[in-house]
Amino acid sequence: MTYIDSILKEKRIFYPSHEFSRKSHIKNMAEYSRLYKKSIESPEKFWAKKAEELDWFKKWDIVLRDDMGFFKWFEGGYLNVSYNCLDRIVKSGKKDKIALIWEPETGESRKFTYGQLLKEVCRFANVLKKFGVKRGHIVEIYLPMIPELMIAMLACARIGAIHSIVFAGFSSDALKDRVQDSKAELLITADGSFRNGKIFPLKENADAALKECSTVKNVIVVKRTGNKINVINGRDNWWHELANEKGIGDFCEPESMHSEDSLFILYTSGTTGKPKGILHTQAGYLLFCYLTFKWIFDIKDNDIHFCTADIGWITGHSYIVYGPLSNGATSVMYEGSPNYPSPDRFWRIIEKHKATIFYTAPTAIRALAKEGNEWPEKCNLDSLRLLGTVGEPINPEAWMWYYKMIGKERCPIVDTWWQTETGGILISPLPGATPLKPGSATRPFFGIIADVLREDGSKADVNEGGYLVIKNPWPGMLRTIWNDPQRYKSSYFERYGVYLTGDSARIDEDGYFWIMGRIDDVIKVAGHRIGSAEVESSLVSHDAVAEAAVVPYPHEVKGQAIYAFVVLNKGVKKSEQLKEELIKHVSEHMSPIAKPDKIQFADDLPKTRSGKIMRRILKAIAERSNDYGNITTLADPNVVNVLASNRV
Ligand code: WTA
Repeated sequence: MTYIDSILKEKRIFYPSHEFSRKSHIKNMAEYSRLYKKSIESPEKFWAKKAEELDWFKKWDIVLRDDMGFFKWFEGGYLNVSYNCLDRIVKSGKKDKIALIWEPETGESRKFTYGQLLKEVCRFANVLKKFGVKRGHIVEIYLPMIPELMIAMLACARIGAIHSIVFAGFSSDALKDRVQDSKAELLITADGSFRNGKIFPLKENADAALKECSTVKNVIVVKRTGNKINVINGRDNWWHELANEKGIGDFCEPESMHSEDSLFILYTSGTTGKPKGILHTQAGYLLFCYLTFKWIFDIKDNDIHFCTADIGWITGHSYIVYGPLSNGATSVMYEGSPNYPSPDRFWRIIEKHKATIFYTAPTAIRALAKEGNEWPEKCNLDSLRLLGTVGEPINPEAWMWYYKMIGKERCPIVDTWWQTETGGILISPLPGATPLKPGSATRPFFGIIADVLREDGSKADVNEGGYLVIKNPWPGMLRTIWNDPQRYKSSYFERYGVYLTGDSARIDEDGYFWIMGRIDDVIKVAGHRIGSAEVESSLVSHDAVAEAAVVPYPHEVKGQAIYAFVVLNKGVKKSEQLKEELIKHVSEHMSPIAKPDKIQFADDLPKTRSGKIMRRILKAIAERSNDYGNITTLADPNVVNVLASNRV
């Protein structure tokens, strides 16, 4: 059964236990509805009241202003994000509470109290200052899941530098494109990262990328693997040497940042062309992470929150770092992969650290469910009280397995829908209140007006699929696309005048949202957001390739996988060996997660008379469907049959 068929048939409802509801922040649907109504009727009042829970150096003048389509929150206010995540928590009496539990792929875990983390962050902030990094400067971070990653982010926030993190699973070309666009002056990386017991050559990738990035003057390298690296004199420095220098102080005064100063850039894939640098600013982003984390994960003082995302993606930014720390919670950060050394690794981590909340992607649930029930059955998962999912739609079968095998029918599941652009969760159950339907992200969060529109902009009927839009601004929303404000407007607001998500969805008779997936050229491979354009240009950068078109096809575990149609240069021979070589090429230059699962050599691609590739047709071929829609506008309709009869 396809995902769409299974969610259309889904009728089960699961209620939170009385015990869970009684102790939760939002206890029932009446309370949700009352507060939701208030948050929509007077959003400024709602958000201002919540903003008072943060520490401000100076209070804001205006809550919200629409500056010709660019939204500004809490203007006139000054605060510091690292102060709110560390000093504020220390001052509330939690100096010795554990902020971070770091679980390496192999070896002993490490714990940092709020007091220790504050000191580490201050010391590294002082190191950055010594390199001349100042407020408004950009620091590129290309690190694996090690504590230095969190420390570096917070150190940037402390001195007002803008961090731009590149997922360590990306290779040299992907890093190069991002650094070139951000124009960073300093890069932080490591001598390597561990993945499945192997070493991924981060520094080598960085060296290759930096050959074409003239803005980067200094590189700081964390020693993680002991892998031999090439140290470039005058440019490369070891983190441990810098951080342990005698003159470096244990305290660094936090910069007073304006609410709308930039906090970070995170590159993500868009509809066409190169990745977009999504810009988030200080106060609104922090407030949104703080409140969504507090209420959606229903956070209590003794919670141990384990989010399996990588900090290189938005989920890690918001729900490993900024959300948990601003709430004074304990966050678990895991370095390795879900099945290393065996498929019970996540369950072992939950058992070992007595995690109470577990937040992961549907793809991981499907992959681990396939390994069999004996793995979770052998572990003690009694500490868990809440589960979450993010990144892609969850099929009801995977939801049920998660609910029964991991949550033991005791833990609510929050299926959280959001995006890099939204900064935090926009549609999700509130675990003590919302009755759950497997496969539905349920209802909008406070202050969010979500809707589904038809092609012509009119409102879709109940259960009619259409474009998911958000009709009002919220504090965590992106502020612009770095270096490209015009693209911010055209990508998100041009079509309907309200925020266009790029997803399709339907709303059922109970007002529940069912997300159906992307409707643009973004592919969600195992929950990772990959742009087809970026994979195509990686393929085309290989000498043998003249042209490439990349589309998704459904995959049992990954949700979606990549299918590439490749036109070779004249005279190049088609062979299985060349396919392998192309897959390796994408892996090494872009990322192992972006490599095509299937490659079909083609002599021609279906194009309109003006030369535009009709991806819709390629998608149908890749999905093994024969429903190509209208093909009469093609320059050569015959191409379709040839491709279909040769599909792989
Ligand atoms: C998809 C990840 C269904 C969606 C936080 C969105 C989801 C894209 C869900 C953003 C969910 C995220 N149900 N689909 N609960 N959560 N998505 O920017 O297609 O990496 O547009 O942010 O992930 O991916 P991004």
